[in-house]
Amino acid sequence: MTSPVTTHASPFLLALLLLLSIPVVFLLGPRLLPPKTLPAIPDADESDDLALFRRAILSSSSAKPATTSYFFHRRPRPKVAFLFLTNSDIVFSPLWEKYFHGHRKLFNLYVHADPYSVLELPPTPTFRGRFVPAKATQRASPTLISAARRLLATALLDDPSNQFFALLSQSCIPLHPFPTMYKTLLSDNAGPHGHHRSFIEITDNTSILHDRYYARGDAVMLPEVPYDQFRAGSQFFVLTRRHAIMVVRDMRLWKKFKLPCLVERNYSCYPEEHYFPTLLDMQDPAGCTKYSLTRVNWTDQVEGHPHTYHPGEVSANLIRELRKSNAKYSYMFARKFAPECLEPLMEIADSVILRD
Ligand SMILES: *[C@@H]1O[C@H](CO)[C@@H](O)[C@H](O)[C@H]1NC(C)=O
Ligand SMILES: *[C@@H]1O[C@H](CO)[C@@H](O)[C@H](O)[C@H]1NC(C)=O
Ligand SMILES: *[C@@H]1O[C@H](CO)[C@@H](O)[C@H](O)[C@H]1NC(C)=O
Repeated sequence: MTSPVTTHASPFLLALLLLLSIPVVFLLGPRLLPPKTLPAIPDADESDDLALFRRAILSSSSAKPATTSYFFHRRPRPKVAFLFLTNSDIVFSPLWEKYFHGHRKLFNLYVHADPYSVLELPPTPTFRGRFVPAKATQRASPTLISAARRLLATALLDDPSNQFFALLSQSCIPLHPFPTMYKTLLSDNAGPHGHHRSFIEITDNTSILHDRYYARGDAVMLPEVPYDQFRAGSQFFVLTRRHAIMVVRDMRLWKKFKLPCLVERNYSCYPEEHYFPTLLDMQDPAGCTKYSLTRVNWTDQVEGHPHTYHPGEVSANLIRELRKSNAKYSYMFARKFAPECLEPLMEIADSVILRD
């Protein structure tokens, strides 16, 4: 039996409940619905990076070229910082050991390994103790940009002699002996005022540009990044020290490129292929070659992955073929090679790869 009071009150109660439910839907709704964007970079990672970048900028602006001591010491020769970005074992390290052998004074090495990846092989001598504090990285995410900037900042801070910064991955191999690469970087002085240039691919004519620009949303890139200044290019670059500082110093474009992509546009989410070329093309186009020294084979690509060479394909002819370039300089590195290629690569290391 219901009391007459409840019967009379129920329309009022219903209306009240309805009214109360509005803020509940607003507050909880977004949490219950699937997210519209891919995961954003954690704030803690961002603030750690900012602190590191500030230190790198500060130390780079205070580091004066030696003047008095110049007369007493020989000025150190410029070094190349090799920056390995990886989420697995650096299987080709025996090949890199051969490559670096005898050139200790001309390079430094730094490795950013995703802390969630499982590395099983013990590091070979040159890689030992060269792992920098790393954070999680994912595909289709600006975390790959962060990792590259972290490597640049760490190398800037570590040694003022680091004058070139080469970004590589675990699936990259060298194509020429170390001295050939070194001479190439140092002999190029076609930048403004006779400066060395960065070897970074910069293009604006690819069909992917439109989708890549809108991957984070419809008008989100403006006003910092107008569509006509948006560029594409491989992240496997060699930057000069001046450009490495420029990249670590940037906050303006990063504010936009760090935005996570929309889930529904995840197939267009490769921010690391746009951030660096866009930034450098805006700030110093004449200081860049606009092509990369790292060869990659995009024939028959699968889901954004280039052709991966397998052991049966490795030969002296392949190496000679991969070196060939239409640009002024021959290719110095190549990707991607499957881990199983180590053995056939080692077999031709002395006779082909490390001989010109
Ligand atoms: C795009 O531009 C680059 C360099 O400016 C050039 O090498 C390439 O052939 C061009 N590609 C197309 C499809 O026009
Ligand atoms: C994009 O999302 C779909 C479905 O969620 C997934 O299958 C695919 O692997 C994702 N692609 C990339 C490049 O992350
Ligand atoms: C590029 O990859 C394709 C297969 O995807 C292969 O047929 C071709 O020989 C490769 N090119 C070079 C120069 O290795």
